[in-house]
Amino acid sequence: MSYDVPTVSRTEPTRDSRLYIRNLVKRDPLTGLADDVRKGLSAQPKRFLPKYFYDELGSQLFEAICLLPEYYLTRAENEILQRYSDDIVAALDGQKTLVEMGSGSASKTRLIIEALLRIQPELLFMPVDISATALESSSRILLQSYPQLRIEAYAADYFAGLAELGKKPRARTLALFLGSNISNFDLEEALRFLRAMRSVLQKGDALLLGADLKKDPAVLEAAYNDALGVTSAFNLNVLARINRELGGTFDLHAFRHRAFYSETMGRIEIYIESLANQQVRIEKLDLTVDFAEGELIHTENSYKYDKAGIERLAADTGFKLARTWLDSQERFSSNLLLAN
Ligand code: TRP
Repeated sequence: MSYDVPTVSRTEPTRDSRLYIRNLVKRDPLTGLADDVRKGLSAQPKRFLPKYFYDELGSQLFEAICLLPEYYLTRAENEILQRYSDDIVAALDGQKTLVEMGSGSASKTRLIIEALLRIQPELLFMPVDISATALESSSRILLQSYPQLRIEAYAADYFAGLAELGKKPRARTLALFLGSNISNFDLEEALRFLRAMRSVLQKGDALLLGADLKKDPAVLEAAYNDALGVTSAFNLNVLARINRELGGTFDLHAFRHRAFYSETMGRIEIYIESLANQQVRIEKLDLTVDFAEGELIHTENSYKYDKAGIERLAADTGFKLARTWLDSQERFSSNLLLAN
């Protein structure tokens, strides 16, 4: 039977009065994983949900991806935020609250926090992230750096996090959705996410949206097929996670990472390929799954955008694209969407 545990919240006791962390992740996180893995491995073609990349090891592997020479996205966005953070925060009036969806280690967020603290005496930061451990450690580090900061953090998936944020009255809000997070949604999901985001914002609030740009497929493909194999480890970690948490018997040497650009879909498609005809047992699901040699499990898409695409997303969800900033090599875009 599949059931949803109501999102009962556990408020973590914390010593720092400037930090409040609320855990909205399902009380039994294995229930979600178990149901989704069963569904995904019974589907045709097989698939996993991207949020399961980000367990503790997965979150760290993603941090390592961001340091890879081939993965230009993080550096390009960093360059934009380094150069333009003062312009970005000046686009909103009044005392501001900072919200961030999918904050992870929050390293790029520092540039925006610093710009805000140059023009206002204190700041409330409200990060939402699926990884409670990433939230907790990044929050403590931020509080150490900035005495003028208070943090209200939500360990939750995006929609549960937004529902919670919607209940709170907030000052003028700048929301961040950085990295290439939007790219992992297909069009329908992106519209749904942006509408949910818009519904918790007031007119005059804004969303800073990071979006990777369409470009030479060789450059795109290299970003998802790094020579060190970190992206491969990140992708295959989903199988390792099923082994660890659900008693799976995946032989990680019998699968490999695949990623390629589909020009017609405008996206990098990411898969795990079975290298043999094989059977895998998942004990806690009482499930045996057959894989054919060459069979692909879909794990993620990463859509690439152009300006017109971002304008359309904004217009269809109650925003106006007010400004776009690019890095010097014009690989990545930071887009300020004003709520109207
Ligand atoms: N949001 C990132 C992106 O699309 C996530 C990512 C980077 C990723 N490399 C990956 C997801 C490899 C799955 C596999 O760029």
